[in-house]
Amino acid sequence: MTVEYHHVAVLKEEVLAALEVAPSDCVVDATLGGGNHGLSLAQKLGKGGHFIGIDQDEAALVAAKRRFQEAGLLGKKDAEKNATDLSKQTSEDLEPRITFVHGNFAELDRILLEQNIPGINKILFDLGVSSFQFDEGSRGFSYREDAPLDMRMDPGKHTINAAEVINTYNTADLARILTMYGDERYASRIARKIVEKRAIAPINSTFELAEIVKNAYPAPARAKKHPAKKTFQALRIEVNQELKALEIGLDAGVRWLLPGGRVAVISYHSKEDRIVKQTFKELGQGCTCPPDLPICTCNNVEIVDVKTKHTIVPSAQEVAVNPRARSAKLRVAEKL
Ligand SMILES: C[S@@+](CC[C@H](N)C(=O)[O-])C[C@H]1O[C@@H](n2cnc3c(N)ncnc32)[C@H](O)[C@@H]1O
Repeated sequence: MTVEYHHVAVLKEEVLAALEVAPSDCVVDATLGGGNHGLSLAQKLGKGGHFIGIDQDEAALVAAKRRFQEAGLLGKKDAEKNATDLSKQTSEDLEPRITFVHGNFAELDRILLEQNIPGINKILFDLGVSSFQFDEGSRGFSYREDAPLDMRMDPGKHTINAAEVINTYNTADLARILTMYGDERYASRIARKIVEKRAIAPINSTFELAEIVKNAYPAPARAKKHPAKKTFQALRIEVNQELKALEIGLDAGVRWLLPGGRVAVISYHSKEDRIVKQTFKELGQGCTCPPDLPICTCNNVEIVDVKTKHTIVPSAQEVAVNPRARSAKLRVAEKL
């Protein structure tokens, strides 16, 4: 079954306000998805402006291109070409210049080097998965639909999938990822049950895994949220190496920013937010030498001005309309 691309952009007005896009900016959307944020950012651009949309999921790029085309930002010819060659396309004859790149933002250095640009002015990371990826049950992100345990955002890449993690990691490693990426209280119980079950037969489907997790939970704890929620989140983060990609991509994104350029990051769970907070803190820290030291020996130079002393979170109205926005946190920094 094909699913219509559906994803409501989170904190959209706040992102637009924070990034202050100027018509001639070079704007990177590192997590283009269906292009909801991306289109709003691109619509702020004029002659001399350049929008670069990146996503590791080809289905997202197809949806984003359709959205841009419908909005008149991508010519019909470009959209047809894009539908057949998804690797890299540029609509150079249009103003502003629009470029779509199929890739992982962990490879931002290579992606931006290939654009032959001196630097960028704005960059957005809207982390995690889209509603579409959840809703497309066949990809194995959701415990609500039975499907092979895959969970790769870029299924064309020969990287480990969720079934391989579940059937090969030892008990300690399984428990570690469930704790680290899912904050799962019953990580060890679940890990032991997985290893027990797979000794009988490999665990290959979302429903099989969800059932194992449910049975590993103590009965009184089963009533609240679905017991498999945290396990599925942890697995997805492991399969897609999301935290590693964030560390590398954020570091590169800030490096590519021109003076006065801005980075905005929307995160959805504590581990992601901690990386963003820590990175901004380190980059925003100037000299840390004791004040009585005559010369600086730490060599710390302030790279960014952190614009969000506290995170920006969605309003109650936004969460009421879009419950998936509930855990979102926005942080913004400006390159000095
Ligand atoms: C929350 S959605 C973005 C939605 C988008 N802002 C919109 O308005 O439609 C996250 C998207 O980022 C992509 N993504 C996640 N990690 C990525 C990475 N390391 N590199 C490239 N794309 C990534 C996912 O495939 C997904 O399409």
